[in-house]
Amino acid sequence: MARLTGKVALMTGAAGGQGTAEAELFLREEAAVVLTDVDVATGESLTQRLAGQGGRVTFLPQDVADEASWKNVVAAALARFGKLHILVNNAGTIARQGIVDTTVEAWNRTIAVNLTGAMLGMKHCAPAIRDSGGGSIINISSTAGLTAHDDAAYTASKWGLRGLTKTAVLQFSQWNIRVNSIHPGQIADTGFFRSGGEAFAHAARVAIPLHRQGTPRECADLVLFLASDESSFISGAEIAIDGGYIAAGTASLRNRVRDDFAAGRN
Ligand SMILES: NC(=O)c1ccc[n+]([C@@H]2O[C@H](COP(=O)([O-])OP(=O)(O)OC[C@H]3O[C@@H](n4cnc5c(N)ncnc54)[C@H](O)[C@@H]3O)[C@@H](O)[C@H]2O)c1
Repeated sequence: MARLTGKVALMTGAAGGQGTAEAELFLREEAAVVLTDVDVATGESLTQRLAGQGGRVTFLPQDVADEASWKNVVAAALARFGKLHILVNNAGTIARQGIVDTTVEAWNRTIAVNLTGAMLGMKHCAPAIRDSGGGSIINISSTAGLTAHDDAAYTASKWGLRGLTKTAVLQFSQWNIRVNSIHPGQIADTGFFRSGGEAFAHAARVAIPLHRQGTPRECADLVLFLASDESSFISGAEIAIDGGYIAAGTASLRNRVRDDFAAGRN
């Protein structure tokens, strides 16, 4: 028995690394899948490939920050597949600007996509999920939603999404909707990874206790678990998927400084 048989899932930012892995995995587990992204060319070619493999999949161009787009996307999903059970708020953007460098435009755009977009997703999808008998919402936050990150707006947006997830639990549990946030550390083979550059990738490999980046497939496996009935009593959790980066955090840094000091490398 597949793990998402009879379920309909909507995922934003689906043309990216994690979204693509989620789409592939959800289809393999027999969900019907609605994919959206601002990157229309990549989204459409992904959808063509997946449909060619027999998947029940459709793509809709969408800027998640635009409320009207959510009304259209939910209406189109219901028209095509009749129900909606799962929302993955995956779309995200980053400007890589510290507080002093941040332009108001970059700040507003990051908050609009990463936080307002996810809020609008829940606002418009939750009633449809309720009317479909309940389901699961997964908000893709970040380790930047658990600790500091260089980008001011990104950090604020991902902490905001973590908090908003708790409000959603308060308001949607009565509709039989579970809501959780996941907090990826650095994930290879994504637009985010490529835009971070080589020095950041090297630093992450050193700082992550497992000494490697994660993969989109590893994130997709966690999202699948939270979407499926296997996680039926998990709601309001915030799950780091980061090779131990947050857990070991400050102790790991302290030990490295201790070892350098002991070896006379300070
Ligand atoms: N890759 C990482 O290292 C990492 C780490 C922590 C958290 N995340 C989060 O994971 C999520 C998925 O990102 P990814 O790792 O697949 O990176 P990615 O860059 O490959 O994918 C992000 C996708 O979001 C889409 N997008 C951007 N703005 C949008 C908008 N306004 N409306 C709709 N779609 C939009 C992009 O076109 C892209 O396809 C993001 O929310 C990101 O913040 C990523």
